[in-house]
This record gives sequence, C-alpha cells and structure tokens, in this order.
Amino acid sequence: MGGRDEQDKLIVRSVDGKGEHFEDILEQHLSRRSFLKTAAVTSGLVVAATAMGVDVATAQTRPAPMLPKFRKVSPTAPEVDEIAVPDGYYAATLIRWGEPIFADAPEFDVWTQTKEKQEKQFGYNCDYIGYFPLPSYTSNNSTRGLLVVNHEYTNPELMFPGYDVENPNPTKTQVDVELAAHGVTVIEVARGRDGRWNVVRNSPYNRRLTGYTPMTISGPAADHEWLKTNADPTGRNILGTLNNCAGGRTPWGTVLTAEENFHQYFANLRRLPDGDYRKAIHARYGMPSGASERRWENFHDRFDIAKEPNEGFRFGWIVEFDPYNPNSVPVKRTWLGRFRHEAATIVIAPTGQVVAYSGDDARGEYVYKFVSNGRYNPRNRAANFNLLDDGMLYVARFNADGTGEWLPLKHGFGPLNEGNGFMSQGDVLIKTRNAADALGATKMDRPEDIETNPVNKKVYIILTNNSQRGVGNGPPVDAANPRANNRAGHIIELTEEGNNHAATRFTWNIFILAGLPTDESTYFAGYDKSKVSPIGAPDNIVFDLAGNAWVATDGAASAIKLNDGLFAIPVAGSERGHVQQFFSSVAGSEVCGPEFTPDNRTLFLAIQHPGEGGTFDKPISTWPDRQGLPRPSVITIQAFDNRRIGQ
Ligand code: FEO
Ligand code: CA
Ligand code: CA
Repeated sequence: MGGRDEQDKLIVRSVDGKGEHFEDILEQHLSRRSFLKTAAVTSGLVVAATAMGVDVATAQTRPAPMLPKFRKVSPTAPEVDEIAVPDGYYAATLIRWGEPIFADAPEFDVWTQTKEKQEKQFGYNCDYIGYFPLPSYTSNNSTRGLLVVNHEYTNPELMFPGYDVENPNPTKTQVDVELAAHGVTVIEVARGRDGRWNVVRNSPYNRRLTGYTPMTISGPAADHEWLKTNADPTGRNILGTLNNCAGGRTPWGTVLTAEENFHQYFANLRRLPDGDYRKAIHARYGMPSGASERRWENFHDRFDIAKEPNEGFRFGWIVEFDPYNPNSVPVKRTWLGRFRHEAATIVIAPTGQVVAYSGDDARGEYVYKFVSNGRYNPRNRAANFNLLDDGMLYVARFNADGTGEWLPLKHGFGPLNEGNGFMSQGDVLIKTRNAADALGATKMDRPEDIETNPVNKKVYIILTNNSQRGVGNGPPVDAANPRANNRAGHIIELTEEGNNHAATRFTWNIFILAGLPTDESTYFAGYDKSKVSPIGAPDNIVFDLAGNAWVATDGAASAIKLNDGLFAIPVAGSERGHVQQFFSSVAGSEVCGPEFTPDNRTLFLAIQHPGEGGTFDKPISTWPDRQGLPRPSVITIQAFDNRRIGQ
C-alpha cells in the first residue's frame, strides 16, 4: 500500500462508489477486525494498528452485551401514512403542535391562531427530546420527569390556509405565530398506573422558549463589537433562539439546545456594501442574498441584514438553560463555536474535564469538540454552571490511515492570527467556519448527531448524506467520506486516544455505509447484508443501557424511497452491524428525538413535519388524528408487558 497520494488517486478513480479499487481502500476503514487483517500485511499502517489493537483486547474482556430482540417492522413506501411498531409494542401520541401546556392556555384552533396563543402552546416541528427525571436530575425516576423538546422550524404552508410557498406574502400575525412556534418546550410528564403517559398541564416547570424569549451570551465572543445591534447596544440581550435541531444534556442537569440552520431567517445580504468585512463572513455562513424564505424581514428589521448587519452573529450558538428553574435565563455559550449546530453531546473525560461534541450540518462542513479547562464537580451543582465558558474548541482532521487529530481553534495558533483577520479569540469563534477552513480540517458529509457510547466509550458520528461529494464543485471523496454522490449517508466510529475524550488524537473507522442492502456500496460493519433492514440518511443516535445504538433517519424517502424510521444497531459481538427497523414513520415526516427513560421502558420519539410536501389545503397526511391537519407530535412507545425496549 502506498502513501496518501496513491490512496487518494485510487479512491477518486472509483467515483461511483463501487469496484475493486474503492473496496480495497475502504477495507482499511470499515471495521476494526478487517483493518487489522489489512494492516497485518501492510507495514505502513502498523502504528495505527497497534493503537487499535489495544482497544480490541479491552473489548474482549467485557461481558457480552444485551442485544436488541424484537420482530423488526417492514419499511413502508413514502406515501404510507401509518406508523408501525414491532409486535408486542404500542405507540401513543403524547402531545401535538398547538396543544396547551399551561392551565390557562387556550385550546388549539388553527383558524384563529395568534402569537399570544402559540406562546402558551406546544410549538411546531419537534426535534430533540430530553427526559429529565423529577424531582431531581440525579434521580433515575422513569415515571415522572420533564420533557424538553426543540421546535426546529415551521411549515407555514401546513399551518395557514392559502399560504403560497412559491410566492410568500405572509401577514404579520402569521410571522409572529411562526416566531412563537419556534424554540423549545419544557413540560412535566407522568406515567399513570395504566402505564400511559400524560402531560401535567398545571406543572410549575412548564415553559416555552420562543423566537422572542430574552437570553444572554457568554464566553470569549460575548463582548465582541459584532454582537451589538441598534436594539441592543450592550450586545448581551438577545431575543430568542431559532432552528433548534437536536441538543444534549449536561451531567449537572441543564439542557443544551442547538441553533442549526439560522441563516435562513435573514435576508438581503447583497445590500450590505462590498467593503463591509462582515459581508464575506455572512456569505460563508450561507445568508440569503435576497429575500428570506419566510419573509420575516417584512415585519422585523432585525432579520434584514442591510438594516441590522449584526443580528445574524447572535445566532448559530449552543444555548444552555436549566429546565428545573422556569425562571432561568438561557445563555448562548460562545466557546462551543458558531456554526449550524446539529446537537451538543456532553461526556466527562477521565480527567473530569467536560467535553462537548457537535457537528456543523452542511455539506462539506466539520466535526468539532469543546474541552473545558475546569472539572466537573458532582457534589456542587452550581459550581458547574460556567464550565462551558472556559476551555478550547477543536475541529477534527481525519487522516487516510485511520488516525486523526483535534486541531485547536485557538487565537494565535498557526494561521489564526491578526495577519489573517483573526483579531481575538472571540473573532475566531464568531468565524468558526473560517477558522476551521484555515486549519485544514476535514470536510464531511453533513455532520449530524454525535454521541458517545457509555458502554464502549467510542464516539459515533452521523454523516447524513452529501449528494455533492465527488460531484462537480463538491469536495472529492476521501477516506472518511468515501462515497461519491453519498445520498444515504454513513456513520463513523471514533476512538479517542486512551479512551480519554479530552485527548487531541484519535483513531477512526467506518461503522455503517447506509442504503438499500442490495446497493453494493453499502456496508453494515461486515454483517450479512441479506439480513439487515434498509436504512437511509441517518440523523439522530442514542444508546440503550446495553450500549446498542438506536438511529433515527431524516430523508430516507429521497435517499432510498422509503419512509423514515428508527433502527436498532448492536455495536459489539457477532450481531455488530445487524440493522433492524423498530419503527416506521408517516408520509412527509422525519423521526427525531429518540430518548429513553432511565429504565429504558419508555421510548419517546418526535415525529417532525408529517405531511411535508403537501399543503394546508392539499394535505398528504392526516397523522396523528386521521382527520384535519397533520400535526408534528411527540409519541411514546412501550411494550405491553413493560419490558425494556428491544429486550
Ligand atoms: Fe436539523 Fe441536521 O437536522
Ligand atoms: Ca437533525
Ligand atoms: Ca433533521
């Protein structure tokens, strides 16, 4: 096997993702076992193989994991508007868009919806779900807790009669409803004696964060000039959080909610003078040059870049808040970087340092992690509240030999200096993407959720898809993103050096190359393809108590012409890579959230944008109520005999 140049050449030659050369190269990165097999005859790779071999030995001493056991469901065609769960399980709708969450909140009436009503009701397009036990985050109570649910975006064509998507001309009332339907909901939920879950509508914990909610900002970028606006000369009083996709939970019981595709709310970049340095930064982040898709700028100047050039810099952050305190002020933590955050997953390193992994979900963007300087204090909750304000942000570079480095986005490091326009640490963080470009990080196939497996300590990185990989002006295929026109996505398994999540070096391999099993470019950790469920466009991942992965998808209808779903995937033992479909969703929807109660006996799922592709007047879905509008909803899935999900 030759050097990197030769490998790249071989990969590029097989741009259709098939063929002998492609498979030869890919073999190095597919699984630990096959990597070692290859490395044994490949002297150039011995160093990496030794590092990986240590991990194999450790894994072999662990007890066999509990494997998912259920009768898998069949995938459904994209027009099918029925959910499916395995025999022995039942699903129930817990809460729908528009349902009141306070005792005094008005009932949902789609014909008379207002901002004021929406602010007291469940928001639209539920994504992240976090279950926080009551009475305390330290309890494992699996029958009463808080659900924290993100509302990523709105589908005005499904919310308002006669809304013209092709030529949007919304009313101010509609725009204000949309702003109030974004954000986050906190609700108390309780499991009754009959096993069914209900929302506790009069709970003092219940709360809505919206596009209007006052929040603040902290960390190195907090005093940056570019955070100041006409409405807020302090730069510290920000209204709202937008496009909250997935999220995470801290060990001290707070929520991290991720601002993802924030660029889409801003308009008129082309009207900013070419000499304004901010214009290139906004362009790097994809701000629209003309009108925005939703036209909020027609009624709110802050979304018009020409009128308020800095408002856009106040979004694209990870926001932390305390769900146990309904009066807590959410904080945008700038040390975690500014990009289209899919999520943020926290793990405590052996050193006690807090590590947060986060992906930038756009084609060719990067994988990041933040490492705190301070250490987690399990005995003093409040001592942890500012841990995310002091540390270092890193971006990942994946080498073709199965190794990798975390490169620090540290002001003054390498090219991140004044000569290249990086004036301070705050500047680096506001321009995180530009800084990562300068460091030569690896451009990935849309990094989505990144989660650590508490059993094997490995980090699983979801790359949902990238139809531009190896096509036209898109980045060329590389070892970590090995398929051209990657429509179905893949999953990378990353091992931090010494299983220390604060390490700056790692090894990696490809775990899954998703798609129809009949597609020869797919790979399921070496498992027999004839036995796996088809899976396309993975998005969110969570682990059960035994360390099995559960992966939700977004975009299977486009990738493999099937509805999205939820899939169990063992990561160890002889069943490693045996993808089995547990849930199938409805027309137009994606599946989000996946969240287990601590006892794994309840699974919460968010069914986002059911009926997308239809309109209010011509719906393609009536889920969940089989009449009227489709409504984004959170559902519960439980076994009739109350067994652990999948056991
Ligand atoms: Fe909102 Fe990356 O999914
Ligand atoms: Ca997502
Ligand atoms: Ca998604």
